[in-house]
Amino acid sequence: MTDAVIPVPAVMADNAYVNNEAYLAMYKHSVEDPDGFWGEVGKRLDWIKPYTKVKNTSYDPHNVSIKWFEDGVLNVSANCVDRHLATKSDQVAIIWEGDNPAESKSITYRELYENVCKFANVLKAHGVKKGDRVTIYLPMIPEAAYAMLACARVGAIHSIVFAGFSPDSLAGRVEDCDSKIILTADEGLRGGRKVPLKTNVDAALEKVSGVTSVIVVKRTGGDVPMTDGRDYFYDAEAAKVSADCPVEPMNAEDPLFILYTSGSTGKPKGVLHTTGGYLVYASMTHQYVFDYHDGDVYWCTADVGWVTGHSYIVYGPLANGATTLMFEGVPNYPSPARCWEVIDKHNVNIFYTAPTAIRALMGAGDEHVTKTSRKSLKLLGSVGEPINPEAWMWYYNVVGEKRCPIVDTWWQTETGGILITPLPGATILKPGSATRPFFGVEPAIVDAEGGILEGATEGNLVITTSWPGQMRTIYGDHERFVQTYFTTYKGYYFTGDGCRRDADGYYWITGRVDDVINVSGHRMGTAEVESALVAHPKVSEAAVVGYPHDLKGQGIYCYVTLMDGEEPTDDLKKELRNWVRSEIGPIASPDLIQFAPGLPKTRSGKIMRRILRKIAEDEFGSLGDTSTLADPGVVNDLIDNRQNRK
Ligand code: WT7
Repeated sequence: MTDAVIPVPAVMADNAYVNNEAYLAMYKHSVEDPDGFWGEVGKRLDWIKPYTKVKNTSYDPHNVSIKWFEDGVLNVSANCVDRHLATKSDQVAIIWEGDNPAESKSITYRELYENVCKFANVLKAHGVKKGDRVTIYLPMIPEAAYAMLACARVGAIHSIVFAGFSPDSLAGRVEDCDSKIILTADEGLRGGRKVPLKTNVDAALEKVSGVTSVIVVKRTGGDVPMTDGRDYFYDAEAAKVSADCPVEPMNAEDPLFILYTSGSTGKPKGVLHTTGGYLVYASMTHQYVFDYHDGDVYWCTADVGWVTGHSYIVYGPLANGATTLMFEGVPNYPSPARCWEVIDKHNVNIFYTAPTAIRALMGAGDEHVTKTSRKSLKLLGSVGEPINPEAWMWYYNVVGEKRCPIVDTWWQTETGGILITPLPGATILKPGSATRPFFGVEPAIVDAEGGILEGATEGNLVITTSWPGQMRTIYGDHERFVQTYFTTYKGYYFTGDGCRRDADGYYWITGRVDDVINVSGHRMGTAEVESALVAHPKVSEAAVVGYPHDLKGQGIYCYVTLMDGEEPTDDLKKELRNWVRSEIGPIASPDLIQFAPGLPKTRSGKIMRRILRKIAEDEFGSLGDTSTLADPGVVNDLIDNRQNRK
């Protein structure tokens, strides 16, 4: 099945922005003359002061420095809102679809402008200035977009914390970027259940000091405790301010946002994106990858708490004057037909979701899909993890009725926007392949020593030169940025992914090669789950690995050694599962826990994860070399008590 190829539909080749010829020519220009290419592309934005320089980047590990359009001045909020008012003030900017199917509303560009200005003025009234960090812990309501654009308007740096994260995770992120203000809601609403956001903020603020204002948007109207002099309801604050607010002129390299993401070691990293290059890249990729044309209704099902929500719900689409749909709920509530019903309700043309959702909806049965029309659909997208060809074919045949090309978009929090992807009018598709690089992106596959491999091959995916959307640093820790991304293979940006390239030059992402696992398209550091586990008083040692999971892509498999005298019971497993959920959040919930009297270690005490991965995969017939084990006996016990028997 992986040999299947899907040709470009004639209507796409004729009507899309680029066909294959144009792709090849533009790609060639983009890599041969990046200054000329991006210098032109950059003009898609409104600049307060135009740039005279374009690319100024170095991947030399002694001097990693990434600057794009460095002398230009602009404002992201002006580009996403104000500049559309002249021609599109009555066009819908955001369609909001509530968790409850009876609730939805449309926000025009004129209304977006007023709401963003009000939010910006509320921020100012609370002392927020250019360069300040603002933590956003909001559910999927329009105020989340207003808040982001309000920060950009006044030059503040937002840090969105996904509303599914625990109070502890929130506290850690507030502390790391030293933010003095949190924007939240009374409660969120997902799949009919309430999420106690304000209560979580209160719990976080018992662990971190320095926050002087908490602004609370009323979503459910639930009764929440308010601390005098610290907590304010947004509606009361907004009633006091004007619906106009001037934009702060920002240098292209001024920070726009921080977004925390998991790595292979330590605490989550604050990925920092800046203003000019990020917006140029987000808007250009949004237009070309989704072949967005004026009037199209575009829906990305991500949450604004992830980078996909930043670049492809808010910044890319709004910079393009698009109509972007924002969905508060979940794909299977009230039924597995929800996504297809929303597509019919709002005449969605472009639908972008994650393989984990596709697999879950495929499992629910075709009748939920086929009872809906979906005739508005013209393009489908996938993101977050490798999509298995079976799910790809179902998405293509059943959801898209063989009419809609699928763009399987590979990228990362760090990359700011899509790097490897089909273009719908240009690229012959192969199910399971992210296909070819976007303009200006130069991928390469290297061996363990960093030697570039040519032709059809497999190895580690690196990018050899910068693109405008690339992260600039880790907030507050440039050295960690250099160490993490530029020292493994000198001179290249290391993605952390394994990759195969076929004889046609198509790229097939094979998954992470570091200690990061991908659970339902969410990135989880095994080290984070391990440190949550060992923080439990009954746990002495823990090792966490990923294993193949039918719905989630990867599941979380935990090997746990207990303190002397503790009983390995099922109740304790339940307790540990709940513990990790409350330490990190439900997305980190262990799928399988195995109590182990000992972990396989080398004589120098290093845990041999390769062996733990094999046992978790139920592939212990191929354990490889175990001769360096300090105590080979532990392996037999681990195999006998394995939790994932196929
Ligand atoms: C990791 C980045 C940026 C989108 C949301 C995830 C995996 C992402 C694909 C894809 C295969 C993919 C990679 C990557 N990934 N998209 N189309 N095919 N793998 O962002 O949390 O920063 O995770 O997600 O392993 O490194 P993220």
